[in-house]
Amino acid sequence: MNKPEKLLEFQQVHYTYPGGQQSALNGVNLSIPAGKKCALIGKNGCGKTTLFLLANGLYKPHKGIISWQGKPLQYDRNFLMKLRQKIGLIFQNPEQQLVAATVEEDISYGLCNLGLPSAEIQQRVTQALNEFNLSELAQRPVHHLSLGQKKRVSLADVMVLKPELLLLDEPTAYLDRPQTRNLISVLQKIHSSGTTILMATHDLDFVCSWADWVFVMDQGQLILEGKPEDVFVQREILEAIQLGVPLIYEILSGEPVEMERIILEKFHQRLINLFS
Ligand SMILES: Nc1ncnc2c1ncn2[C@@H]1O[C@H](COP(=O)(O)OP(=O)(O)OP(=O)(O)O)[C@@H](O)[C@H]1O
Ligand SMILES: [Mg+2]
Repeated sequence: MNKPEKLLEFQQVHYTYPGGQQSALNGVNLSIPAGKKCALIGKNGCGKTTLFLLANGLYKPHKGIISWQGKPLQYDRNFLMKLRQKIGLIFQNPEQQLVAATVEEDISYGLCNLGLPSAEIQQRVTQALNEFNLSELAQRPVHHLSLGQKKRVSLADVMVLKPELLLLDEPTAYLDRPQTRNLISVLQKIHSSGTTILMATHDLDFVCSWADWVFVMDQGQLILEGKPEDVFVQREILEAIQLGVPLIYEILSGEPVEMERIILEKFHQRLINLFS
């Protein structure tokens, strides 16, 4: 079988914040395979958000190389503008994402910057408002919204641009259950239309039901990667970095390996059916 194409690649990437005592990224090697639904997991402070901020060129590595489709990133305005059309980043904190006065203006902001015809902008904004259940809030000032509503606007802002790679930093934070389900079904659609996704999250139960590739970070490095069923059976490593495993893997701990495989396969299938 052919190895999947690498969309975005980190090679020995180091980054330290100005005035920081320790490296936030400490020689990260990580390749995002095209077409996959990837999850990035690791405890607080391991470097997930920093990795995202480097991925779309907001920060520049102090050492190492980041490449998009095999070509190293450049940091001039022109290159970064084009890169950010291909890589959409949804911030952990929605307050950092919102720029315009009203919800509708905020969602149309990126499309206007692309210089698209106004009819297409209107059509895409209306679709995004519907998809994220924001139609009733379209004329609301963004600073009057709840955090969960702001999160939905920030998701709509980026999704409306149809990036090739979507980076989501804790996208389910602040969302209630119906909105989380809605987000998952929108992500499913986006993924089916060809977008690669990398999501940072602490929700391991969600990861094992959704992702088809998992990256595990610790102390600014990638320490493990693979299919969820191959990553989560490495209980000792995951316990050692205080990450733990999804509930289903905890329940199955100690069962014979064959039994574990059969139950996990059924479990994954159920969850996939639930969300599709
Ligand atoms: N603006 C900053 N200035 C200095 N240090 C920072 C800054 N932002 C993050 N750090 C440090 O860099 C390291 C990596 O932080 P980062 O935000 O990337 O972690 P994370 O994995 O996203 O954590 P979380 O799960 O809490 O979101 C941490 O040690 C953090 O304290
Ligand atoms: Mg973070």
